[in-house]
Amino acid sequence: MRKKVTKAIFPVAGLGTRFLPATKSIPKEILTLVDRPLIQYAIDEAREAGITEFIFVTSRGKSALEDYFDHNPQLEQELRKKGKEDLLSTLKTTNMDSGAIAYIRQHKPMGLGHAVWCARRLIANEPFAVILPDDVISGDTPCLKQMVDAYAETGGNMVAAMEVPREKTSSYGVLDIAEENGPLVSVKGMVEKPKAEDSPSNLAVIGRYILTPNVLRNLNKQKSGSGGEIQLTDAISVEAQAGQNVYGYRFNGQRFDCGSKVGFLQATVAFALERDDLRDDLAAYLSEVSGYDKAAQ
Ligand code: UTP
Repeated sequence: MRKKVTKAIFPVAGLGTRFLPATKSIPKEILTLVDRPLIQYAIDEAREAGITEFIFVTSRGKSALEDYFDHNPQLEQELRKKGKEDLLSTLKTTNMDSGAIAYIRQHKPMGLGHAVWCARRLIANEPFAVILPDDVISGDTPCLKQMVDAYAETGGNMVAAMEVPREKTSSYGVLDIAEENGPLVSVKGMVEKPKAEDSPSNLAVIGRYILTPNVLRNLNKQKSGSGGEIQLTDAISVEAQAGQNVYGYRFNGQRFDCGSKVGFLQATVAFALERDDLRDDLAAYLSEVSGYDKAAQ
């Protein structure tokens, strides 16, 4: 029997420079889409995929994240006194069972690969998921759940994959495709941030991974790659080149790049339009401003 994926690493130690000055004192993952921080979307997705152990790789200045998952007895008591049951149940989704969550420190932002490697002692010899909270994916079945189901058939390593315009490949890790089989793509290599003309395909890696402990061993030996950082893509690519099963999974759903301002704004609008309490007012406002835009042209 294949071992179930029950642990997920959330690398949240980046500097978040694209959101300065906000991220000078607030972790990027605490920024809210409507009224829920990015990290809550990631946690909900992980839970729905069967994850029970949550490992955060954090850095200086991220204490707001740790507080977010704590109980707040005073606030709960106030809400209970006022009979605000709906808000109490909203708060419940933010609480974590004791021992379900672990924090590991990345002392220097040396790249995503290095951040994942920092969690190696908590993984031992089992498959694990990696979720980047700034990639928010909406859809009927959560992206990681789709991947866990596919992984139950394939084993190996799996990365979420999405087609991007060729001129954008230099912002992503890109798959070198061996064979395509429905949503599953076997991969013979991966390249981090290739120029359009050098890119092996336009199938890009998005921030969801299911990985074997071998990838951590590869990271042990890893030198810095693209941008002087230790790249997770390079460590997975070693597995692909060694003929170990590496798959891309074309997920169903819409991905928002909430690490960028435009992506964050798009996600905010999309999630607000899903909400019964906000849809009508926001839609009216959007049609008003797009009317101004047309008038100006
Ligand atoms: P990004 O490339 O988006 O970098 O990291 P960043 O620092 O978060 O943001 P910018 O580019 O400065 O605005 C992708 C993911 O990898 C994590 C980040 O926290 C984010 O979830 N990461 C990146 C680390 O945990 N450690 C690192 O050294 C680098």
